Amino acid sequence: MRRKLIAGNWKMNNDLDDSLKLVEKFKSLSDKFDKDVDVLICPAFINLYPVKQSLEGYNIKIGAQNMHFEDYGAFTGEISPTMLKSIGIDYVIIGHSERRQYFNEVDETVNKKLKAAHIHGIIPIVCVGETLEQRESGIEKETVKNQIVKDFENVHASEAVKTVIAYEPIWAIGTGRTASSQQANEMASFIRNCVSEIYGTDISDKVIIQYGGSVKADNAGEILTQSDIDGALIGGASLKAEEFYKIINYAK
Ligand code: PGA
Repeated sequence: MRRKLIAGNWKMNNDLDDSLKLVEKFKSLSDKFDKDVDVLICPAFINLYPVKQSLEGYNIKIGAQNMHFEDYGAFTGEISPTMLKSIGIDYVIIGHSERRQYFNEVDETVNKKLKAAHIHGIIPIVCVGETLEQRESGIEKETVKNQIVKDFENVHASEAVKTVIAYEPIWAIGTGRTASSQQANEMASFIRNCVSEIYGTDISDKVIIQYGGSVKADNAGEILTQSDIDGALIGGASLKAEEFYKIINYAK
């Protein structure tokens, strides 16, 4: 039985004060969170530690939105897995389409980051997904499979099973345009098959596959009850405590 993972990706939103205020609201709602759901929030790097401290004793996990694959060195402006680990970070989002689109993230670096995260015991959430043009030309599955194959190259089965995959069609991110629950589930199930082709069904049956792209309280119920969807990666709607809490409680 796969546990649902509901993750909030705050992106480049919330300064320190806003982050701590939002966390206070989550805390006041947290005793109402469904106990069978894992809840994760991913603030900006600079707010990770204060948010982590504020959530001490609460069952809410903290993740970063990116990291470098090296442990240390001359990489100005970067944050390493060892730094994340040193402040007790549990998860890291890797290969988000905004990183791929605006910051030249490619499958080769996604693969290096995925391996580095596992070396340091941080759970990677690897994002894959097609553009609108790719979907309209009927190559969405080929595109996603290609990402999976490259992102998981030489990743050991024991690490693959602990990797979360987020299917995020780029045309649905921040656009208000959600994939239909059928489209999302069809791709999640296709992704599970890709994982099975590489690692076998023992592994693919256990891998957590999220959907991301304009998930809100009013569409979460339908998306989160699909057979192959094990949670959601949420941008905009995770910035509102009440809305995020509603989504969490749909994930039963
Ligand atoms: P959105 O973002 O929910 O605002 O569409 C999702 C994401 O980018 O992870």
